[in-house]
Amino acid sequence: MAAKTFTLTDNSNNRSMELPVRQGTQGPPTIEIASLYKEMGVFTYDPGFLGTGSCNSAITYIDGEEGILQYRGYPIEQLAEKSSFLEVAYLLLYGELPAATELATFENMIIHHTMINENLKNLYNGFHYDAHPMAIMTGVVGSLSAFYHDSLDIHNPRHREISAHRLIAKMPTIAAASYKHSKCEPFIYPRNDMGFCANFLHMMFASPCEEYVPDPVAVKAIEVLFILHADHEQNASTSTVRLAGSSQANPFACIAAGIASLWGPAHGGANEAVLNMLEEIGDVSQVEKYVLKAKDKDDPFRLMGFGHRVYKNYDPRARIIRKVCHEVLASTGHADSPLMELAVKLEEIALKDDYFIERKLYPNVDFYSGIIYRALGIPNNMFTVMFAIARSVGWTAHWMEMIADPSQRIGRPRQVYDGAPKRDYVPVDKR
Ligand code: CMC
Repeated sequence: MAAKTFTLTDNSNNRSMELPVRQGTQGPPTIEIASLYKEMGVFTYDPGFLGTGSCNSAITYIDGEEGILQYRGYPIEQLAEKSSFLEVAYLLLYGELPAATELATFENMIIHHTMINENLKNLYNGFHYDAHPMAIMTGVVGSLSAFYHDSLDIHNPRHREISAHRLIAKMPTIAAASYKHSKCEPFIYPRNDMGFCANFLHMMFASPCEEYVPDPVAVKAIEVLFILHADHEQNASTSTVRLAGSSQANPFACIAAGIASLWGPAHGGANEAVLNMLEEIGDVSQVEKYVLKAKDKDDPFRLMGFGHRVYKNYDPRARIIRKVCHEVLASTGHADSPLMELAVKLEEIALKDDYFIERKLYPNVDFYSGIIYRALGIPNNMFTVMFAIARSVGWTAHWMEMIADPSQRIGRPRQVYDGAPKRDYVPVDKR
């Protein structure tokens, strides 16, 4: 596997060591450091994992300098234009695009797992009506292991697959139910005659007294947004799922941990934060003031939906979403949306500003997605839930890949201890 080596020289102790270098099919070479402590007695230090690979993975490839994103080798632009969310889900889970019969079987399998156990619904009653839907999602998804424990042997590949299908299928049902709970409205059952995205919109917006027919423009927009959000290699929530799973925890517990991580505003919570920010800015005349705030190191304000750890070029997902955003606004009669005008102005000013140019800060996937969701009638606090529905595919694909990897071990980082040196206990009356 490792044809090349990297020589590490420790000048202060006059010694050196050859470290193996791994080369993936794409991307930069990676130095293996697992034996460093054993051989040299030192650890490496990389908080935030700026230069550290945590695993081998064949699922998603990103070139942040060039703005490239591929799922299983397929460019995201092609998948967003030509594929469906469930076809992409199959691709991410199984590694290849499905043949027509494989896709039909997979779609049928997912459709027949969309219902949730009736008793699971009682759990919602424990949440106050104004609970954030992401809080409900974390709790309800975590509880799935209490309902579907017939297939929780993680060492059994068929059990893993059943859990993956259940999770992907039930996420929209659980998400729509958390919205209905906030409205104090009855939950709507999934419909087997609808596609994945149309079914989700139906569970969100139908009511027992009024039928809802999903708009094809809305269905297509959700399909594209779900495809774009389906995976993004070792991001914070996926790494959380992997770390939780490395202890052999059950998949539902691991995905609940991923949902909790996604919620943060530096990660998936940014889509909700972008809309809140645009509403706070309020008017294009205020944009320059907020750009100044974002550049001020004494001000905690950041331009939400801007910047990315990996992309140092325009996020390819944001480019696609911006186009879809214009299409959705035009077809829903919101072409002159003040929010869109504000977002475009913000992007325009920021992209010309030296602060953003020098730091290579571009709009990311979250910058325009909230405007689309808003136009489709989805409330702000459901935006990150939408992200979670889509990313549940990536999370399960990574969890399955990790569990099947024979080199997988429990994730256990080390630290630089900078606390008190050894000292003796002092009885309370002597302190
Ligand atoms: N507004 C203003 N300044 C920024 C921003 C921003 N949005 N993002 C980064 N910077 C500055 C930051 O202050 C730092 O400046 P300096 O070098 O002078 O200290 C420099 O750019 C590098 O930033 P960083 O925080 O060290 O970069 P990071 O890779 O640790 O963080 C990030 C990446 C996405 C957390 C960050 O850019 C950010 O907070 N963005 C806003 C939140 C957001 O949109 N998150 C969604 C990310 S994409 C979807 C997802 O992951 O779910």
